Amino acid sequence: MNIIVVKDYKELSERACSIIENQIEMRAASVLGLATGSTPLGTYQELIQGYEEGRTDYSRVSTFNLDEYIGLSPDHPQSYRYFMNQKLFSHINISDENTYIPDGKAEDLQKECIRYERLVEEIGPPDLQLLGIGENGHIGFNEPGTSFESETHIVQLTDSTREANARFFSSMEDVPTQAVTMGIRSILKSRRILLLASGERKATAIKQFIESERTEQFPASSLKDHQDMTLIVDQAAYQKAIEKET
Ligand code: PGA
Repeated sequence: MNIIVVKDYKELSERACSIIENQIEMRAASVLGLATGSTPLGTYQELIQGYEEGRTDYSRVSTFNLDEYIGLSPDHPQSYRYFMNQKLFSHINISDENTYIPDGKAEDLQKECIRYERLVEEIGPPDLQLLGIGENGHIGFNEPGTSFESETHIVQLTDSTREANARFFSSMEDVPTQAVTMGIRSILKSRRILLLASGERKATAIKQFIESERTEQFPASSLKDHQDMTLIVDQAAYQKAIEKET
């Protein structure tokens, strides 16, 4: 595992952006695994700027997002499809049909999970998967206790995850209770993994990530066995991990 410690969120976003841009430079038809949440927002802004400055062409790029809330339509402002359109896709020259996100409104959700996993296999697996980490170590919506063998599946969201995401909804009752998420095994299929963590809020999770053995109680620990895994972390998120060493 490579660990890149950067000064702050701005530098983290720039580093992540340049790794993604290099990937696309190496392979114009790259498949990217993307994530939602606040952590990748700065990276997306940097990617948009790179596109506007003519650094990157997304016309042959495909993307897979990790997850989607069940019950929210693509035009719901809190759906992950809407988030991705607003924060990245509508600002770059990627074709809509090359951007994949689970359908949280599918009539048959079990079938949707199977369909999505097949797509990941057929079009992917991603050359590069961008990930955030939850305060409880979740990746995607894979909460503690999720099997490392899991593929795309339906999850019941934990109270802590719903509370963490409630800030985006007008009330707690509006926060969906279920989601479709790529599983741990699906995520590990990616050729390279880029995990981002920023801010004091993530310091405990990062300390645990660095120190813990592989355990299903801490989903991000599954990444430690991946053959090409990079963690970019800013000083605030890294500080507890260092405290131990000094
Ligand atoms: P955040 O979420 O980027 O909004 O902190 C990360 C996650 O929960 O996976």
